[in-house]
Amino acid sequence: QCMGLGERLSDVNLRGRRHTLFNYSDNLHIPSLDTMYVSIPFLVIANRHRNQYHGIFLDSPAWQSWSLDQELNNRGVVDLLSRRGWSLYIMEADCLPDLIAAYTALTGRSKIPPDWALGHHQSRWSYPDQETLLAVGKRMRESEIPCDCLVLDIDYMDEYRVFTHSKERFPDFKKVIDELDSMGLKTTCILDPGVKKEEKFSVYADGKKRDFFVRRGDQRPFLGKVWPGPSVFPDFLRHDVRVWWSAQHGFFVDNNIAGVWNDMNEPCLIDSPCPMPPQSKELPPEDRQMFMQTLPEGKVGHFEVRNLYGFQMARASFEGLLALRPDERPFVLTRSGYAGVQRYSAVWLGDNMSWWEHLALSVPMLINMGLSGVPFTGVDVGGFGDDCSAELLTRWYELGIFYPFFRNHSSMLGVVQEPWVFGEETEARIRHLEIGSDCSSSIQETVPLS
Ligand code: NOJ
Repeated sequence: QCMGLGERLSDVNLRGRRHTLFNYSDNLHIPSLDTMYVSIPFLVIANRHRNQYHGIFLDSPAWQSWSLDQELNNRGVVDLLSRRGWSLYIMEADCLPDLIAAYTALTGRSKIPPDWALGHHQSRWSYPDQETLLAVGKRMRESEIPCDCLVLDIDYMDEYRVFTHSKERFPDFKKVIDELDSMGLKTTCILDPGVKKEEKFSVYADGKKRDFFVRRGDQRPFLGKVWPGPSVFPDFLRHDVRVWWSAQHGFFVDNNIAGVWNDMNEPCLIDSPCPMPPQSKELPPEDRQMFMQTLPEGKVGHFEVRNLYGFQMARASFEGLLALRPDERPFVLTRSGYAGVQRYSAVWLGDNMSWWEHLALSVPMLINMGLSGVPFTGVDVGGFGDDCSAELLTRWYELGIFYPFFRNHSSMLGVVQEPWVFGEETEARIRHLEIGSDCSSSIQETVPLS
C-alpha cells in the first residue's frame, strides 16, 4: 500500500491513482479533486506482511505528478517539471514509526504548541464586529462548553488591508481581545499574503520602496485579485522579505492576538483557474509563469518553487511571533505547505463541506498528513461549505475532539454552526462529550441510524 504525499482527497491507500503535487485552492472537494493546498513529496510504501516499509522523498518544490499503479501493472511513475534538479532520499525501516522518525529527522519536527492551541477553537467567516465576537465568547462560557480560542476571519480588517483592524466595526479592538483573554479565551487572526495595492497604505508603500513584492518575467509588478481588490505579493523566499513581514506581526502582538492563521497562501487568487493544470507536460518558459521569485543564486520562475510559498509565509509568521514574544510558544496555522511545514505551523485541510462523506474522509486524510510528518492537523468541524445539521454537527464534534487541531469553522454562505444554534439538546450533547458522558447511546435513542 502507498501512503503519505501530504494532503490528498483520498482514502489512506493512494494506489491506483495519479497524484499531482502543485499547491492549489479548489474549494469544491469532490472525489476527482487532485491538486490540493499542501504538497509533500514523501511516499510511504508499506508491505505489512513482510514488515517492510520504504520511504521515498523527492525533494523539489516544483510541479510533480505521481502515478501510483494507475495502470494496475504494479508500477509507479513520477514526472517532475523543473530546470533546477532535485534530491532523492530513500529510506527503509521495519516499522512505520521508525520510517516516519527517519523522515522527520531529515525535514524537522513539530514544536510543542501553546496548550490553549490544543483546545477547542470557535471560528466563523466572519464574526463581523466586536459585539458579535464578545457575545460568542460569553455564550460559550454560559454554555459551559470548554473553549480556548475564538477566531477572527477576514472581516476584522480595515477593507482587507493586512495588519489593520476596522475602526468602525472593531473600535475597541484590543479592549475586546483583553476582555476575552480575561475569560480564558485567546483570539487568533487570519492573515493573507495579498497586500492591497494602494499608495497610501503603509505596508504597500514600504514593501514597494524596498522592492519586496514579486514581479513578472518582464519586470512589471505582479498584481492579483484577492479580497482587497488588486494586490501585490511578498517574495517569501527572500530572507530579508521574511524578516520584514515578521516584523509587521507587531500589530498582532500589540493587540494581544495569541496566534496567526495564514490563509490563501498557495497563493490563491479569486476567480482564477489553476495556473498549471494537472495534465501539464512541460514547464512554461519563465516569462509565461505567474511571476518570478528570488533564490540566493538568482531569479527562478514561480512554478519551480510554488509549493514553498505558503511554507515560507508560515515560517515568517512563526519567526515573527517568536522574535516578538520570545517567552511564548508561537501558534501558527496554515492552509498551504510543503515538506517540513511542521516546524512552523499547524495545518487545517481547507474548505471541506458539511457532508457526511467529508466527516468520514477527514480520518484517512489526516492520517496521510501525519505519515507525511505533519502531526498538528485538523479539518473544519461541522464542515466549511453548505449547511450543517444538528446530527452532523454532533457527530463531527464526537470525532473532532480527537483531531490534534480542533476548530469549528464555517463559511458565510451556509447556516451558522456554533454548538448552541441547533437547540438545547444538541448543545447539551456537545457539552457532555467534553465531560465524558455516554453521548453516543443517548443519540441512538433519539435519532434512528438506519
Ligand atoms: C478561505 C479559507 O479556506 C476559509 O477557511 C476562510 O474562511 C476564507 N478563505 C475567508 O477568509
